[in-house]
Amino acid sequence: MCGIVGSIGKEDTVSILIKGLKRLEYRGYDSAGIAVIDQKGLILVEKRAGKVKDLENEIGEWKPDTNIGIAHTRWATHGEPNELNAHPLMDCKNRIALVHNGIIENYGSLKKILADRGHFFRTETDTEVLAHLIEEFYEGNLFEAVRQSLQEVEGTYGIAVISSLEPDKIIIARHGSPLAIGHSGGGMLVASDTAAIVDHTNKVVYLEDREIAQVSKDNYKIETIEKVIVTPKLQIIETDIKKIEKGGYSHFMLKEINEQTQIIKDSIRGRLDRESGTARLDGLDRHKKQLIETDNLIILGCGTSYYAGLIGGYVIERNAGIQVNVEYASEFRYKNPVVRKNSIAFAISQSGETADTLAAMREASRKGAVCLGICNVVGSTIARESEGGVYIHAGPEIGVASTKAFSAQVMVLNLISLLLGRMRIMSYDEGKIYVDRISEIPQKIKSVLDEADCIKEIAKLYSDRNNFLYLGRGFNFPVALEGALKLKEISYVHAEGYPAAEMKHGPIALIDKEMPVVVIAIKDSVYSKVLGNIEEVKARKGKVIAIATEKDSEIQKKADHVIYVPETIDSLYPLLTVLPMQLLAYYIAVERGCSIDQPRNLAKSVTVE
Ligand code: AGP
Ligand code: GLU
Repeated sequence: MCGIVGSIGKEDTVSILIKGLKRLEYRGYDSAGIAVIDQKGLILVEKRAGKVKDLENEIGEWKPDTNIGIAHTRWATHGEPNELNAHPLMDCKNRIALVHNGIIENYGSLKKILADRGHFFRTETDTEVLAHLIEEFYEGNLFEAVRQSLQEVEGTYGIAVISSLEPDKIIIARHGSPLAIGHSGGGMLVASDTAAIVDHTNKVVYLEDREIAQVSKDNYKIETIEKVIVTPKLQIIETDIKKIEKGGYSHFMLKEINEQTQIIKDSIRGRLDRESGTARLDGLDRHKKQLIETDNLIILGCGTSYYAGLIGGYVIERNAGIQVNVEYASEFRYKNPVVRKNSIAFAISQSGETADTLAAMREASRKGAVCLGICNVVGSTIARESEGGVYIHAGPEIGVASTKAFSAQVMVLNLISLLLGRMRIMSYDEGKIYVDRISEIPQKIKSVLDEADCIKEIAKLYSDRNNFLYLGRGFNFPVALEGALKLKEISYVHAEGYPAAEMKHGPIALIDKEMPVVVIAIKDSVYSKVLGNIEEVKARKGKVIAIATEKDSEIQKKADHVIYVPETIDSLYPLLTVLPMQLLAYYIAVERGCSIDQPRNLAKSVTVE
């Protein structure tokens, strides 16, 4: 689930690994560890609960004579996040060290069989069974022992294995959890996320599911678990190191919030066709016919991506008149969903690696839907497995709480709605106006971000509260959900998002003078209704923080605080109204002294169910 990095043939293995782990920190984790093989042929392991910095301090000036090692950041699924359970994990004789992302689902039965055969276990992890299984199968060939072990395993994995019996190779394998090999002068690197190795190389080969590779210092071979030889596809990655560093901001999250003016420009660059009043999305070209004919879209996602999908549902139904079902990927995959003959499914995922979204997409595909991806990470599994799609071009998102990716997803969904709308019910004139309104959005984003100081002041007033309510209607209802999620994620304050009109059906019982209620009350088609909802909150002495359209003086009289956003068309408002939500959550978390970029218990990319 979290991070793997490995290095072979290079000097300074320990610092390469530690630096790699630091690059992976953004993914969220709870412990870290490293294993190297020294010149005497011994495996040396260092592990720590907590941060990579703690591991680094523990290691200090330790410079073992080595040129091979693997390292890991763990996000515990089985067994407490303590030093003992941290990876690398070892076999009985300490001759095999293994790091693993994912879950071994049948670890219980394997553990029992192995224990009966005399293996003794030191940790509570599911992963440890794999180290013992490899030991059990080992007959002088590590590659084969790993392959045979994986044939016994159910679940998901990205693994890297070293052995003191064959100190000249790292064996890696993947099923459901990404892994790549990087060519680097004088050695090879392996990593679960290319961010870990971009300092050394931009040439990588991604492993596909059920592939296993043997990596030595100057070459590698890849086969499937079923022994089919794989011809590697070398890819050049374009990560700019500056983009994965903080660049003067106190947190990645703040940097990413502030990048949104540029990100939205990037996400629309070359995609607006003013002449024809439509959008140009090359990745959907091959499916034009199906897009014209379909009368049902399914949008699949989790967390923030799901909320962006909800907005997409509203926008596409409004602009293109197609019925859209937006589903939690985790529910979709198990509910035996009805997929119509001409359904098209969009899997929406920043990372492109979310296990539930990937599984839901595969389920939709099995049932005959054309599957398209809306991803940020280029070359990610969802991007590769989908039949087409649109990249959101948000650049690397490091903060665990998604901000700029959400905005870019919402923009891309607007572009899709424009394209589909123009194929169906939207007139040329409407299309042209839409194009113009979209082009104005980056500047408008900038003007909201310029109000950050006023939002910071509001955050200070309410940072001691333990409950928040977020209300919005129509296109802005999912923004209320996203606002509440942001606050929960990074400041650990309980928050609920509701459609404003639902308040009277229950949540109104929570309102008293202590309760801050964030209400999105922009001048759209439901404005007057939302004003009514604000009155209901005020009548119960709740504190209203309103997000309103600039020049709305009426709302000043009703709300305790007003944050203004510029005017736009209804379906583009979420791109502006979400910004105060992000900043409010950020500043409240700062006031509360929280770990903003790596909130507790969360991981950037959730590759387990
Ligand atoms: C966002 O702030 C979250 N950390 C989380 O909800 C996230 O959006 C979700 O896990 C989906 O991730 P994905 O977009 O990479 O698929
Ligand atoms: N399931 C393993 C564990 O709990 C691996 C977790 C991870 O992906 O980091 O140790």
